[in-house]
Amino acid sequence: MTKIKTVFGCQNCGYQAPKWLGKCPDCGSWNSFVEEQLSAMPDRSARSITIPGQDTSPQSILAVETSEEGRLKTNVSEFDRVLGGGLVIGSVVLIGGDPGIGKSTLLLQALDKLAKKDIRVLYVSGEESLRQTKMRADRIGVTSGNLFVLAENSLEKIIDDIKKLKPNVAVIDSIQTIFTLQLQSAPGSISQVRESAGKLMLLSKSTGLSTFLIGHVTKEGAIAGPRVLEHIVDTVLYFEGDRGHPYRILRAVKNRFGSTNEIGVFEMKDGGLEEVANPSELFLAERPIDVPGSVVISSLEGSRPILVELQALVSPTSYGMPRRTAIGVDPNRVSLLVAVLEKKVGINLAQQDIFVNVAGGVRVEEPAVDLGVVSAVASSFLDKPIPSKTMVIGEVGLAGEVRGIHQAEMRLKEASKLGFKRCLLPRSNRSRITAEFPGIEIAGVGSVEEALETLF
Ligand code: TYD
Ligand code: MG
Repeated sequence: MTKIKTVFGCQNCGYQAPKWLGKCPDCGSWNSFVEEQLSAMPDRSARSITIPGQDTSPQSILAVETSEEGRLKTNVSEFDRVLGGGLVIGSVVLIGGDPGIGKSTLLLQALDKLAKKDIRVLYVSGEESLRQTKMRADRIGVTSGNLFVLAENSLEKIIDDIKKLKPNVAVIDSIQTIFTLQLQSAPGSISQVRESAGKLMLLSKSTGLSTFLIGHVTKEGAIAGPRVLEHIVDTVLYFEGDRGHPYRILRAVKNRFGSTNEIGVFEMKDGGLEEVANPSELFLAERPIDVPGSVVISSLEGSRPILVELQALVSPTSYGMPRRTAIGVDPNRVSLLVAVLEKKVGINLAQQDIFVNVAGGVRVEEPAVDLGVVSAVASSFLDKPIPSKTMVIGEVGLAGEVRGIHQAEMRLKEASKLGFKRCLLPRSNRSRITAEFPGIEIAGVGSVEEALETLF
């Protein structure tokens, strides 16, 4: 009788050890080891993929023929843009997000659009029955007969069905519910997820099937088996948003076939997700007018400038340690900017709690929002409002200087479209602006002090 070989695998990062460990030496997570049978196929298989009909010997790069990657447009333009201009044929896309955020809805809608273009698509649900899927489909108004549905968990059965049906696009909802009979570990365990994703990847590359894998996010904020899966697939998208808000943002974090800066904005409605063509308008809709602590900033998301409202609340602290809380912007950046305000402008914030929030559940990461943070904090502290039709952009350095940002003209154009009257921006940008922006007064500033003088 052959002895069954087992290993202990970390469910967080995939690290393997011959015996059980309390703490993973690789990623440091506790109590994450589970005994698993050694996979029949070593995981190397997922990485060395040979595509039939392709020359496997080394070639000169000049001899390699290129053709534009074939792409399928879903006609959900926000979705296509995030994918880099449509879905690449034969690619594998991982979509992660919190439960209930709308991943299943988004993909069912995208598949329906594809099916309407006479493309055969298959939606595999490992979580919901066919009837539940149908109920959702009715809710969002799916009408195409080219959309096939399958409620199945077994990887072997799914692959069989895909080979029989020969769809062009398949969705696996979700990868954590799929299991292969070749492994004994439970569905959702890291070896099952890796094995299933690897096999589906192989199938996609060899048949030209485009596959979407839906992945749940663990409470730590990473797709279960994060490192393993993110490396295997071509594209990783995150669908995020605040459950309390109807806005949802689709963000690319890895894309072999496009930019990772692009975002798509959707609004969850009764009849499914609706694209938001002009996010700035949406994000500024409920803005309080002429209230201290509120300022409009511009964040460049991929090829689009989006105007959002940044709010700050500064109030005397009742604890020994003043609180600094930031939502939607980097808290470290906020601490740094507060220090600049104290040292360079002389505003004493040592006894103040400071809260900074980007309205609408948006997250901004650009340094160009620095001047906005500084202005909002100062505005709240001084209790002086910043006029509502004013936009503030610029990076702030530790010496209190305001540094140039990129794509200033594009941001000004968006502001002018939305009827803004004034824009504060770095002096270095001001001198380079050649285009005319009727109706907007453009003020160039060189330092934080100068910016606050101009504003208040
Ligand atoms: P779902 O796509 O099931 O989320 P996920 O697959 O990411 O877990 O979306 C579930 C939520 O979306 C649910 O709370 C109800 C809401 N919803 C709507 O508001 N309108 C709709 O048309 C649909 C289909 C869902
Ligand atoms: Mg779902």
